[in-house]
Amino acid sequence: MNFEFTEDHLMIKESAMDFAQNEIAPSAVQRDKNAEFPYEIVKKMGELGFMGMMVSPEYGGAGLDTISYILAMIEFSKVDASVGVIMSVNNSLVCYGLEKYGSDFIKQNYLVPLAKGEKLGAFALSEPEAGSDATKQKTTADKDGDFYVLNGIKNWITNGTTADYTLVIASTDKEKAHKGISTFLVEKGTKGFGYGVKEDKLGIRSSDTCSLTFESCRVPAANMVWDEGRGFNFAMNTLNGGRIGIAAQAIGVAEASLDASIKYAKERKAFGQTISNFQAIQFKLSDMAVKVDAAKLLTFKAAALKDADKPYYKEAAMAKLYASKISVECALEAIQIHGGYGYVREYLVERYLRDSKITEIYEGTSEIQKMVIARALLDQK
Ligand code: CAA
Repeated sequence: MNFEFTEDHLMIKESAMDFAQNEIAPSAVQRDKNAEFPYEIVKKMGELGFMGMMVSPEYGGAGLDTISYILAMIEFSKVDASVGVIMSVNNSLVCYGLEKYGSDFIKQNYLVPLAKGEKLGAFALSEPEAGSDATKQKTTADKDGDFYVLNGIKNWITNGTTADYTLVIASTDKEKAHKGISTFLVEKGTKGFGYGVKEDKLGIRSSDTCSLTFESCRVPAANMVWDEGRGFNFAMNTLNGGRIGIAAQAIGVAEASLDASIKYAKERKAFGQTISNFQAIQFKLSDMAVKVDAAKLLTFKAAALKDADKPYYKEAAMAKLYASKISVECALEAIQIHGGYGYVREYLVERYLRDSKITEIYEGTSEIQKMVIARALLDQK
């Protein structure tokens, strides 16, 4: 067992930290307030290799491991969790799945620009009546010659209107239930592909979330990812990696809550001394630090298993379950330490609470993670 990062890992962390501080942080408050998508930031992230971190250089990626990706995700999410989720979806849910399961045609035509950050991806699994119960896909894809015709609605799609390419999970054979589900890559602008209203969210406000509509939308059969009937396995397998990314996003927010609390505790005076002298505050800081470290250990363990090509779905669920829980807890404690100042927008900690909450919901709610863990423990998967 080795708890040391390599020189390369430390360099990635350093460069992500620099980018986060210099390029992402300065406009984060304004983007949260106005729900503005960070177009320029995402473009620069692509140029620096952060949008296809784990993709092989053969397909335009940076060829790095999951540990490097987690380190970068934490640094970016520390200053802006919205940037974290945009990056996470492109890396974990789109690029990873295309590299692992896509045909050569898909890799050359779609993965390369996605991994280079020239194009942005989205992942459309959820529906109005298929959230946690994801096998109940109502969106259909009917074969018609060299095309599939898509009809249906997708909900809560991150990068919804901004994505150039969207992976759409749809039923190709209702009779076969989840074994009759397939994945299609749909290009923006395809006739019959439309957008619902952009969601006005509690947190991660500068990320773009909306519903998607498909009305007789014709998609070339060559744009099917993996085989017909493997769409649900595709979604589950990519989500396992996605959950490690969301754990990292949650850790970034938790660490930001801890750092802000330490800084404030050293500055704020009450009863003639800084509040950092009070045991009530010290114990809160200690608890937060232990939680952040424990979440990191779980998340790096899941990432290391993935990098070693070993089973990691249970560990990914554990990492996401715990990291998202402590992210909300740390944000709440940060507000408590800041007192009234924590409750107003002038200080950043109220945003940390708003941004942390979603990590307990998307890419599988905490309840779903517990289900995945329990099934693994009981050997029911
Ligand atoms: N990894 C790999 N495969 C898995 C899996 C996992 N974690 N969980 C289930 N599967 C596989 C099973 O092995 C089975 O495959 P086979 O039929 O080939 O053997 C298949 O999936 C069906 O599994 P179950 O019979 O267990 O199905 P179920 O309906 O009882 O439970 C579920 C499935 C685990 C609840 C699943 O529906 C699930 O994970 N739901 C949550 C969905 C989710 O995470 N949504 C996130 C939306 S995307 C998003 O949020 C992105 C964003 O924009 C940020």
